[in-house]
Amino acid sequence: MAYKRISAVEAALMIKNGENIALSGFTPAGVAKAVTKELAKIAETEHQAGRPFQVGIFTGASTGQSTDGDLANAHAIKYRAPYTTNPDFRKHVNMNEIAYNDLHLSQMAQELRYGFMGEVDWAILEVSDIDEGADSCKAYLTAAGGISPTAARLAKHVILELNTFHNPNSKFIHDVYEPLDPPYRQPIPITHVGDRIGKPYVDIDPKKIVGVVECNIPDEARAFKDSDPLTDKIGHLTAEFLVSDMKRGIIPSSFLPLQSGVGSTANAILGALGNDKNVPVFNIYTEVIQNSVIEMMLNGRVKDASACSLTVSNECLMQVYDNMDYFKDHLTLRQSEISNSPEVMRRLGVIAINTALECDIYGNANSTHISGTKMMNGIGGSGDFERNAYISIFTCPSTAKGGMISSIVPFCSHIDHTEHDVNIIVTEQGVADLRGKCPMERAEIIIENCAHPDYKPVLREYLKIAKGGQTHHYLPAAFAMHDTLTRKGDMRLTDFSEYVKA
Ligand code: COA
Repeated sequence: MAYKRISAVEAALMIKNGENIALSGFTPAGVAKAVTKELAKIAETEHQAGRPFQVGIFTGASTGQSTDGDLANAHAIKYRAPYTTNPDFRKHVNMNEIAYNDLHLSQMAQELRYGFMGEVDWAILEVSDIDEGADSCKAYLTAAGGISPTAARLAKHVILELNTFHNPNSKFIHDVYEPLDPPYRQPIPITHVGDRIGKPYVDIDPKKIVGVVECNIPDEARAFKDSDPLTDKIGHLTAEFLVSDMKRGIIPSSFLPLQSGVGSTANAILGALGNDKNVPVFNIYTEVIQNSVIEMMLNGRVKDASACSLTVSNECLMQVYDNMDYFKDHLTLRQSEISNSPEVMRRLGVIAINTALECDIYGNANSTHISGTKMMNGIGGSGDFERNAYISIFTCPSTAKGGMISSIVPFCSHIDHTEHDVNIIVTEQGVADLRGKCPMERAEIIIENCAHPDYKPVLREYLKIAKGGQTHHYLPAAFAMHDTLTRKGDMRLTDFSEYVKA
């Protein structure tokens, strides 16, 4: 049998003010995007007529302009979780218009199941193919695993976006698995990066499917900035560090699976590792696969890769679909609670490399909040990986905004990753190896190896006025650099004497 075909407008008109929508996808990859675009227009019309219209949005991770951007601009989002990267959405969050709940991505699906965020009224899933059975529906996902099986199971109603932009052979790379909740949860039986433990499709109760929206919409893949000399330097330092750990026997000679965050620094690090012939062919266990990983798989530097999404350019995505004979045996897309599972990454010994906005002299890291208050994107999977990694690495340029901001500060203005979760900090200045060190040793090594020369004297001066305890601080001046930035526009103008009480 064929399920009812409906237009994106008809689907959007069924969604009512105050309802919660769970979406497929993870990053803009694989996100349902036909219906939400129409929903934004409906919200605008409703608002013009003086009627309220806002919905809650649950996703795997960030989405694209047609979801987070258009809906935020239409003032149509009441609540949103988890991660997002959209600049329009960010603007409305920082105007305090949206209740944005930023949580670890591995926890999203289970917190929906536990009922922490209310009911799921709608699931909208992007699919590349559907087995339209009367008693069972098999829905084949596109470029991401996300939270789709949980969304479809919890939702009262399901809309499927059958997006012919994607190739139906996307089914060959999905491993759909939803764990049971405590007290019935079982160990997740992944012992190698490429293990498959589930099904290639999402099971959906056909009674819940209100319609199929046929569409042809490209993924709203993000373009990352090209690498530059600075990110290349960070990439090379990180690669050198890992090679030296391998030579010392800390990393086994067969190497360990890597997780690498998104962006140009992550690409530069992977590029440097890929080019370093001292590093054996390696595997990737991560949440987001970027173009560089696909290139390294095709040239034999990466053997197996497991992730939640293919956050690649559309050309690169087509390359994967066209080479499915190869990728079906080497690439696996999973749900975010599996790609980011603490249990699995501890077992596999994943090496995590993510980018921070700022790190402090004791090793705490801030990934999310500019000067402690303005949300940037969200914690994403960085906490999942860094907390549970074999070696947890943070990278960042030593300064931002042309040198007016130091990324190394006395005390992070917001802490996402505590000093207990951070082993290594890498800036273009050098590498701070914090393993086995006490706080005061860490402070010395972070200032010496990672701070920009313009800021070393400032940070050393802070250490002189800081008093301890095991960890030295002078709290009235702990945020003096941030305060100076706000008042004078440049952290280099920090004068601690303004903060020291006579
Ligand atoms: N204070 C103020 N602004 C800062 C800053 C600081 N300490 N450090 C960086 N910035 C600004 C930059 O100047 C830049 O501003 P612009 O957009 O106006 O140019 C912006 O923040 C982003 O910095 P950039 O260096 O381009 O960062 P990036 O693209 O490498 O991203 C994060 C860095 C932290 C925002 C990003 O990695 C992130 O969202 N991390 C959290 C999620 C995560 O780690 N996921 C990984 C698992 S896949």
